[in-house]
Amino acid sequence: MTLVRIRDLRVAFDGVPVLHGINLDISAGETVGLVGESGCGKSVTWLAALGLLPAKARITGTVETAGSDLVSGGRSVLETIRGGRIAMIFQDPSSALNPVRRVGQQIAEALRLHRGLRGAAARAEAISLLDRVGIPDAARRLDLYPHEFSGGQCQRVMIAMALAGQPDLLIADEPTTALDATIQAQILALLTEVQRETGMAMVFISHDLGAVGAVCDRVAVMYAGRIVEEARREPLFAAPRHPYTRGLFDAIPRLDGPRSRLVPIPGTVPDPKNTPAGCAFSPRCARATSLCASERPTLLPQSDGRALACFHPVPAATLVSREGVFA
Ligand SMILES: Nc1ncnc2c1ncn2[C@@H]1O[C@H](COP(=O)(O)OP(=O)(O)O)[C@@H](O)[C@H]1O
Ligand SMILES: [Mg+2]
Repeated sequence: MTLVRIRDLRVAFDGVPVLHGINLDISAGETVGLVGESGCGKSVTWLAALGLLPAKARITGTVETAGSDLVSGGRSVLETIRGGRIAMIFQDPSSALNPVRRVGQQIAEALRLHRGLRGAAARAEAISLLDRVGIPDAARRLDLYPHEFSGGQCQRVMIAMALAGQPDLLIADEPTTALDATIQAQILALLTEVQRETGMAMVFISHDLGAVGAVCDRVAVMYAGRIVEEARREPLFAAPRHPYTRGLFDAIPRLDGPRSRLVPIPGTVPDPKNTPAGCAFSPRCARATSLCASERPTLLPQSDGRALACFHPVPAATLVSREGVFA
C-alpha cells in the first residue's frame, strides 16, 4: 500500500528553483533512504511536502496521502497529517525542543494534540515512550529540561515525541549527523527497533550512504534538486551505476580494508543560481562527455528495476562486489 505519493514536486526560493520535479512513493512499513551531499534538496523535499518551508517558497506538484494533497490542501489538511500520520525529526534536536519547558510537558502536549490524552494517562504514556526510546529512569527525568539531557538523549526524546502521534511514516532528517559514532549507531539501532515494533515506514535522510545502507530497503540518490538514481539497497550497493552514487560509495569510510579506498568526490554541489546546463553533475564527473554538458539525462527505469539518469553510467560488469561493507 502506498502511504505517500510525491509527483513532480518543485520548489523555488525567490524565483530560483532548488527542487526540479521529484517523484517518489513511500509504501507502508518500508524504509527509504534519501542520500546526497549537503544542499542537494533532501530536506527541502520533505519540508515542502509537510508545509514547513517559509512562505516565500513557491511549491508546485502533489504530495498525496490518505486521499488528500498536502500541497494544495491548506492548513487543516497539513495539521491533521503532520505529527499524526507523518512525523519528522531533525538533525539538531535542541532546536526542535523548547528549552524552557520540561521534557514531560512537551511529550504530553504531543499526546494531547494527536491522541487526546490528558493528565495521568498522558503522563503514564509519556513515561512509557521515554522508556521505549531508552531513557533510563524515565519517571523522574520527565520533569527535567532539555539542557539536562545529552545530545543523544535529546534525539531520543525527539523520537519519543514523534512516536507520540503513532505515525505511519517517520521522516528522519539526518537524525544522527550531530552525534558521535557510537551514539549514532545506537540511535540507528533504536529507529530500526521501533520500526520493527510499530511497523511504521521511515524516510531516512543522510549525506552518508553508509548509514543509509545500514537501515534502508530502498535508496534514492539526490543531486542538485533531482533524483539521479533509485534502487533497492542490494542492487545499488552491489553495483552503483550513476557516477555520483559511485562517488558517494567510494567516500564511505570502511571499517576494514585499506584506507586508500576513501576517495572524496572532487568539486562541490552547484549553487542553485548557477546550475550547469545538461547534467548538473557533469563538471565533476570523470565519465562526462560533451553530450552531458549540453543535455540533461532523464530518470529512466532500467531492466534490473532501478531508475537511472545518466548517459554514461558505470558499467555494471566491471564493478567489484563490496559485500560486507556494513560488517
Ligand atoms: N529557506 C530557504 N531559503 C532559500 N534557499 C533555501 C532555503 N532552504 C534551503 N534552501 C536551498 O535549497 C537547496 C536545497 O537545500 P536542502 O534541501 O536543505 O539540502 P540538503 O540536501 O542538504 O537537505 C540548497 O541550495 C539550499 O541553499
Ligand atoms: Mg538537509
